[in-house]
Amino acid sequence: MDRIVLSRGGVVLEVSAPASGIVRIRMGRGKLPEDASWAVPAAARRARLPLKVTRNGEAVQVSSENIGARIDLRTLRTDVLDGGGKLLLADLAGRAALSPQGGFRMRGRLSSDDHIFGLGDKTGTFDRKGGAYTMWNSDTYKFTQATDPLYKTIPFFMTVSDRGQAYGLFLDNTWRTTFDFGKAERGVLSISGEGGPVDYYVMAGPAPKEVLQQYAHLTGTAPLMPQWALGFQQSKWSYKSDSEVRAIAQRLRSERIPSDVIYMDIDYQDRSRPFTVNRAAFPDLRQLATDLRGQGMRLVLITDPHIANAPGQGYAAYDSGAAQDLFLKLPGGQYYSGDVWPGAAVFPDFSRVQARRWWGDLYSGFVRDGVAGFWNDMNEPSIFNVPSKTMPLDVEHRIESDDFAPRRTSHAELHNVYGQLNSRATYEGLARLQPDTRPFVLTRATYAGGQRYAATWSGDNVSSWQHLKMGVQQLVNLGLSGFSYAGNDVGGYAGERPSAELLTRWFQLGAFMPLFRAHSETGRPDQEPWVGDAAHVDIRRRFISERYRLMPYLYGAAEENSRTGIPMLRPVFLNFPAVLANGDRLGGSEDQFMVGGDLLVAPSPTLESPGDYKVDLPGKGWYDYWSGQRLDSKSVTVTPDLANIPVYVRPGAIIPKQPLVQSTAIVPEGRLELHVYPGTDCHGDIYADDGVTMAHQRGRFLRQRVRCEESPSGLKLLFETREGSWQPWWSGVALHVHGWEAETPPQAHIDGTALAASVERAQNAAVILMPDIVSGEVVINPGAGYRASRKPMQ
Ligand code: GLC
Repeated sequence: MDRIVLSRGGVVLEVSAPASGIVRIRMGRGKLPEDASWAVPAAARRARLPLKVTRNGEAVQVSSENIGARIDLRTLRTDVLDGGGKLLLADLAGRAALSPQGGFRMRGRLSSDDHIFGLGDKTGTFDRKGGAYTMWNSDTYKFTQATDPLYKTIPFFMTVSDRGQAYGLFLDNTWRTTFDFGKAERGVLSISGEGGPVDYYVMAGPAPKEVLQQYAHLTGTAPLMPQWALGFQQSKWSYKSDSEVRAIAQRLRSERIPSDVIYMDIDYQDRSRPFTVNRAAFPDLRQLATDLRGQGMRLVLITDPHIANAPGQGYAAYDSGAAQDLFLKLPGGQYYSGDVWPGAAVFPDFSRVQARRWWGDLYSGFVRDGVAGFWNDMNEPSIFNVPSKTMPLDVEHRIESDDFAPRRTSHAELHNVYGQLNSRATYEGLARLQPDTRPFVLTRATYAGGQRYAATWSGDNVSSWQHLKMGVQQLVNLGLSGFSYAGNDVGGYAGERPSAELLTRWFQLGAFMPLFRAHSETGRPDQEPWVGDAAHVDIRRRFISERYRLMPYLYGAAEENSRTGIPMLRPVFLNFPAVLANGDRLGGSEDQFMVGGDLLVAPSPTLESPGDYKVDLPGKGWYDYWSGQRLDSKSVTVTPDLANIPVYVRPGAIIPKQPLVQSTAIVPEGRLELHVYPGTDCHGDIYADDGVTMAHQRGRFLRQRVRCEESPSGLKLLFETREGSWQPWWSGVALHVHGWEAETPPQAHIDGTALAASVERAQNAAVILMPDIVSGEVVINPGAGYRASRKPMQ
């Protein structure tokens, strides 16, 4: 048996196990809800593992691989169990969750030691316990800590106990829903909605990382982004002319601020009409894109979903959409028209394949001109001059897509998925237009699963210290919701202009965010990295440059995310669940964060009023990233210094870095650096490919694991056999062995041949130069002064 269907009192319940560690529960009045989804592709939904079902009186016990359930036949209460039969989530509602008037209210028990994360970039508190949140995609200019709902709907969360045990829950329902984590009723999780299916998945973990992988199994992972999208991106509403865009590019280069992208916001368009260009200001977009490309700079253009309601004016986007009848209509049959940037506008019905195809094709001109990526904004959708800030709920959509039964439905069902379908249309269009180029799409609104199509950012934030801090937490929670590739507007979008200090701090932290984009509102003073006095500019340049040096590591983390769903930006407990047992501050996860598995960034919890603060590291023997020095103690007292943000490295890390380049389009010259931080479980990964095409899917990549083994007498570096056919840019490797306290360099050998070695005091490193090898072993005999990290420390 691969599913169990029960019914009681007019309610039908289905329980199945689509994959190991995952249970799917669906419930409906009279019949089960439609088996279709915008988030979970059919293949993942339809796969069903065998179930073992036993009945004992009124109780039915269901078990499958690493997951189980216990159903009470009278109430249809369905408790979810882990593979060992231990209770994960007790159901308090059963069939009573369905109200006879439509709508539902599920209830479950929260345990007192559970922390709750996810739901995307919602603000409120970092740990969502005790809060209640509504899912309704909303344009929330200058949102605050108290604003809810925000731009996105990601109805997925995980609970993590003080012991680091986790489970996840994903409600696949696009309607307006509310998640209450013990706010209304202490100890009770309640999920309610006005409509739509009760169709949810519980993921058994048990580690937080496993929950993320289970969620990724259902909703997919982000494709590997082009490497340039990890570079620094400069945006503003708006760079208004060809010469202004060129001047910005020129200035970035002359200031030696590494950068890859310039954004063009709405004012490049003719009267804010999507898919037009104001030719007076931008006479030759193709030439502009070509010249910028020559400087290692790419263009990203905004294209909002509102098409100017301009019949008979030769506006191609309107005319072609109208000719194919692709715009949304009111129940009476006339177009729905709402005011946005272009004035009156109509809206594509992205729930139809045909509309998505048409939309995707609209990019052909820009793609031919050499525009590299696209920004889908205002797609909640946002409408001006109406209290609801969006379109009326009775606007009609025609679902003709995927495995949905073709049907008409109201905007109430499609609202929360509109942005996701908009970005999907863009992504799929770009993939059709340039099959061998990785698309880059940035979206503001989205729904669960939208990570398959687009990167995202947290919308219209404010230039304030509070937003800087809150923004990090938003990105961490986005990463715990499937969206790894995300950023905040660096410097803040709205409000008062940032002080030089705030801007500098923002660049410092932004340099460690997956999407590193500076952006600000129209009419504000300039906010580019060169604004302010030289000391500030120097610091910003240094951090942006450091990001480019770290590119091989960051790109490796992006590649890992594309395979596993583990985000680039992580709370400390994701890598080290045991930190949760250490106290009430989530093991530092509220203020600190990790980039990949090895780097821990520890800004002050009160960046605006700097006083000394303590950083508790997840273990002993961590290293200071900037000095390369090994720390003896597990906790560090930091005296804040504007020139620096403390970063620590996991003992046992091997971090690939590269020589500084001003753009990812420039091939670095010299050696790949491998920074070795001896410790237990010592390993690191090298990943590389051409950065832009799909050839990595055809074997044109390079992947190599490097391990290190330590003994009191020395260190061995083991290069495991390289995979893939990509030829790297480096011909040699520089090993930097950190924590080096001796004045003399080590003796290092490869196959009996001595390697050149020196000591770099400022880095507390021994530097060893070696050839590039596809496999093999380097032996480092340190001589006097070497302190093996495994030696017990006082
Ligand atoms: C929205 C976006 C913002 C953009 C502006 C103009 O407010 O969130 O980033 O600059 O629209 O397009």
